[in-house]
Amino acid sequence: MGNAQQQTTDEALRARIDPERVPAHVAIIMDGNGRWAKRHGEMRVVGHTNGVRSVRETLVGATEIGVKYLTLYAFSTENWNRPRAEVDALMDLLVNTLMSELDSLHENGVRLNAIGDLESLPGSCRATLAEAIRQTAHNDRITLTLALSYSARWELVNMVKRIATDVRDGRVDVEAIDDALVSANLTTAGMPDPELLIRTSGEQRISNFLLWQIAYAELWFSPVLWPDFRREHLYQAVLDYQGRERRFGLTSEQVGPA
Ligand code: FPP
Repeated sequence: MGNAQQQTTDEALRARIDPERVPAHVAIIMDGNGRWAKRHGEMRVVGHTNGVRSVRETLVGATEIGVKYLTLYAFSTENWNRPRAEVDALMDLLVNTLMSELDSLHENGVRLNAIGDLESLPGSCRATLAEAIRQTAHNDRITLTLALSYSARWELVNMVKRIATDVRDGRVDVEAIDDALVSANLTTAGMPDPELLIRTSGEQRISNFLLWQIAYAELWFSPVLWPDFRREHLYQAVLDYQGRERRFGLTSEQVGPA
């Protein structure tokens, strides 16, 4: 599809989105970079490099329709077990992308955030990330959260440890432990839960991502490999989400007309 034609497709889809019911928080499991590379006869890392364009497109698209939080699963705890060269390449890609995109993020009102075991990242990566987070801290158009060395079980274990410590030290009464206290002790404290979770590449798994937070999220699985993911796919996901009835355990009659 040519550029002009693509723009028409994007705009037509966008026009159908109800601005009143855009999910405030969209989370994405970006998958399929390796398969994309293989299909194109390239090394896996080329798939990751091409995935950066999809990150940019998705961020711009999300911002345009008024999404306030975009959370991307960029590197899981389990990803450390990949071949050393691929891990190094991913970390380099992250640092280089952050450095080259920082001005653009800032100009577009993006606040950068990161969740995960950030201590385990290489020093250069931590430093670049910390600087980008610091520079964009006052932006409020959209919050882009990168999940890095993240896994939901790691996060849940830490939450339990924190609350247990507070109970032991007399700061929290056991009876006071509720949903809100659990949420406040997760890495996503202060963010609304994602209403929409997207996974690309045809896999239909959650893979240890935001397990507590997606309790009521609508799931949208796309066969598109992440490096091919574009604004139109995000818009299709949002349109599909808007066509669904979210009941939160209630009956159709109780939640009323969609
Ligand atoms: C999954 O594809 C993708 C990743 C593990 C990495 C995602 C990272 C990027 C798109 C670059 C991120 C850059 C920024 C700045 C956030 P896979 O390798 O698991 O693919 P496969 O399942 O086909 O092997």
